[in-house]
Amino acid sequence: MKQRVYNFCPGPCTLPLEVLEETQSELVNYKGTGMSLVEHSHRGPEYDEVHNETVSLIRELLEVPEEFSVLLIQGGATMQFAMVAMNVMAQAEKAAYVNSGHWAKLALKDAQVYGSTYVAWDGADDNYSRTPVASEISLQPDTQYLHITTNETIGGIRTFDWPDLGVPLVADMSSDYMSRKIPWDLMDVAYGGAQKNIGPSGVAVVIVRKSLMNVSKRELPSALDYRQYHSSGSRFNTPPVFPIYVAGKVLKWYKERGGVEEFEKVSIVKSGFVYDAIDAGNGFYDCPVTGESRSRMNVVFRLPNEELEAKFLAGAEAEGLVNLKGHRSVGGMRASIYNAMPMEGAEKLASFMDTFRVANS
Ligand SMILES: Cc1ncc(COP(=O)(O)O)c(C=O)c1O
Repeated sequence: MKQRVYNFCPGPCTLPLEVLEETQSELVNYKGTGMSLVEHSHRGPEYDEVHNETVSLIRELLEVPEEFSVLLIQGGATMQFAMVAMNVMAQAEKAAYVNSGHWAKLALKDAQVYGSTYVAWDGADDNYSRTPVASEISLQPDTQYLHITTNETIGGIRTFDWPDLGVPLVADMSSDYMSRKIPWDLMDVAYGGAQKNIGPSGVAVVIVRKSLMNVSKRELPSALDYRQYHSSGSRFNTPPVFPIYVAGKVLKWYKERGGVEEFEKVSIVKSGFVYDAIDAGNGFYDCPVTGESRSRMNVVFRLPNEELEAKFLAGAEAEGLVNLKGHRSVGGMRASIYNAMPMEGAEKLASFMDTFRVANS
């Protein structure tokens, strides 16, 4: 087998090697049952245990209070763009969106189908290079909820000031789930696809304040209704068994290593290596994001020209540092440094950046 590389992919992304190996060892014959877990009934005792353990690890790691329900839903974060609006906004109401970039815009676009929406803060003026402080967000009267994207995976910016503006807060946490504590006193719905910091793609983790589940009063198709997932423990139909199974292993791996608090500290150190390499470059590397808005999960930067960028990518790949190309809409580089990226991966990238800069300045 080719040696494993340091994979800086934005998602799906690197997973802990121990988790992959354990999954592999169980895949054909799960705990001596003579079949794989993915061949077991989703209502049988084997899957029961796996499902409940994943949900309870989410609760434990994120310190989710009793007033919230943890839902596991197919359709990714993208389906939540619409489901949030359907479930939390009544037909005649309006919702506010912080336009922090690519993902926020998509969330807003889908919500518009189900009610009236407006932009309460617009990052376009600063080319989406920062997130707002709460006092910059301006709400209109009778706003049903405020939607934020806590980490823009493409723009490389993160929310650093949680808005406490007296309306329910809804957050797309797809790319920084499990890397920071969630202030539940301010939060009402947190959601995200699993495929960055939770496990393989195929499931979204949606954490909803129970009291908000009935506000929309809409007739909803069952697969789009939070109440269906809540009342059935996310098993009113067949759940995405495989991602939930592997997610449980990832979450256990986090727990054994100190949980979210520890991973937050580690993320500051790991992203810090790369930001230091950028800042030490006297302009050779250009990161459009400064200060507290700098994402700890996705570090974006450019080189002086596209020729050098191509050379950088090829050189990095030869060193086993892969998937560093930025999103096609913005170009440049993007290093996604999620929880499962080993410290050595971030160190090796930073050291490659230093060497490359010296050789090419
Ligand atoms: C912040 C953010 N929101 C939403 C999505 C969409 O997620 P999904 O592909 O699970 O629908 C992504 C995907 O990368 C993302 O990074």
